[in-house]
Parts: sequence; C-alpha cells; structure tokens
Amino acid sequence: MSAKVIDGKEVAGEVVETVKAATAKLMADTGVVPGIAVVIVGEDPASQVYVRSKGKRATECGFHSVTHIMPEETSEADLLAMVQTLNDDEMIDGILVQLPLPKHIDEGKVIQMIAPEKDVDGFHFINVGKLGTGETDTAFVPCTPAGSMVLLKKALGTSDLSGLNAVVVGRSNIVGKPMMNLLLSANATVTIAHSRTKDLPALCKTADILVAAVGRPEMIKADWVKPGACIIDVGINRIDAPEKGEGKTRLVGDVAYAESAEVAGSITPVPGGVGPMTIAMLMANTLESACRRAGVEAPTY
Ligand code: GUN
Repeated sequence: MSAKVIDGKEVAGEVVETVKAATAKLMADTGVVPGIAVVIVGEDPASQVYVRSKGKRATECGFHSVTHIMPEETSEADLLAMVQTLNDDEMIDGILVQLPLPKHIDEGKVIQMIAPEKDVDGFHFINVGKLGTGETDTAFVPCTPAGSMVLLKKALGTSDLSGLNAVVVGRSNIVGKPMMNLLLSANATVTIAHSRTKDLPALCKTADILVAAVGRPEMIKADWVKPGACIIDVGINRIDAPEKGEGKTRLVGDVAYAESAEVAGSITPVPGGVGPMTIAMLMANTLESACRRAGVEAPTY
C-alpha cells in the first residue's frame, strides 16, 4: 500500500486565495483593511527568513503589513513598549512577536502583553483558555495546529473524527497541547505521548490519526504506524546529507517518510506539508481579527 500524499503547499495556496478574496470583499464592503505587525528582536537568520516570508504573504493578501526589526540588545521594557504601541494602533489587527527572543527578555511577559484580540499566534492565556473550553468562535488558534487540522480534514474528507483514535507525540504549548484540544473538539479520542511515555511504538500503532511534533528526525518508524492511518508530520529537522555532497543538508520530519508511506493511508511530506500551512493560517487569523473588528463573518477553511 502506498499512502496518499497530503500536499500542504497546494492547500496553503487555497487558504491564501480564500483570504485574498475575503480581504478584497471586506475592504469593498466596510473599508476595513486587515493589518499585521511582525516584531523581530535580533539577527537570527532563520527567524529573519520566516519574518520576511510572513511580510511577503501579508502584502500578497492585500493587508497593511509592518515589520519592526529591533536590535539584539533591545531591553525588555522597550519591547513591551513596542507591543503596547501596537495594541493601541487601530490599523493593526494582528501582532506577532517572533520567537525565540534573546535570553535577557522574558518571553512569557511579552506574550501576555499582547492584546488577546490581536494575538494571532494564539499564545495568550485568554486564547489558550478559550481553545481549552471550546470557545473557538472568539479564540485565536495557534497557526501550526490550525493548519494541521485543515490538512487532516482534507485528507479524511470529514471534520467529524468520531470513533477515531488520535495520538499526538509531543506536548509543547505551541503544537501538542493545542492540537489535542482541536482533535478533541472534532470528537476524536486523543492521547498525548511524550518522552516519558511507556512503549511509544505500541501506542502509536493504535492511532488512526498520528500527529508527530517532537523535533526528532525520522523518529517514528513504519512499524509504529497502523495500516491506513493518517500521519501529520509537524517536525522540520535539518540533517546532514553527505549523499548530496560535502557539507550539504536536507530537511526531514519526525517520521521516517518513505517506509511509513508504505503503511499509512495518507501522510504529509517534509518539506511541503504542514510548513506552508503555518503562514497561511497566520493570514487567516489576521483576516479573522479584522472581520471581528468590522463585525462581519470570517471565512472557514
Ligand atoms: N517561531 C517559530 N514559530 C513561531 C510561531 O508560530 N510564532 C512565533 N511568534 N514565533 C515562532
């Protein structure tokens, strides 16, 4: 058996097209232009790449987009003041402070400073609590799990996961825990596994839906996979690829892709699976924030 490949790039493109069309309609009907502000502190090259592509996508969607690049030595007080300015800025519907922040800044403090109604990352306690209690109409859902759910629903052809066992490997606040809540809201029976879980392979093998978000290259093997399962691989790991030449690297997920694809029913590739969905859902969340401001219904995906 060979799994159906879930094309995240294609689905992300569809989400962005929906956002573009809805943004044009929002502007025509109400005059409201969605606004996003991305703040980055320091010069981490990977973060700079992410931030540039977020800005590019936002402009493509027709948003008002601003990027604030602050020096590495920025004080916590200055960053908090920047967040406060953006909270008060009526042109801004979504604020994203790129993580990780330099060590001298308390990340938690910065995240909790962001106005919950502009927290398009969904990291503020208010949004975490709303997601945990099923208040999804007014919550912001973190972008990577939100995008993973869109892919899952596409692959399975349904948004009702009644009767299905989901195993989420990884318990992070950014992916594992919100993914658990989203799966539960969709009626799946959910288990969270992590580094202290006993007999992880056997547990994974019970999963109709297997979500891997641990950051360990190709950890999940084919014999951990239930035949026909849907695999969502959130991992993005860079590993050495001597076969491509000296010093070369390549990206792999948390799942040993080729062998697992022989067993699974559907699987997201790395790259080109969950990755492209994250920025697409950031655009969707920003549009949703602007729709709330304008008092109109936002699209669903
Ligand atoms: N750094 C890596 N991923 C993310 C994300 O989803 N949001 C923020 N704010 N920073 C990140």
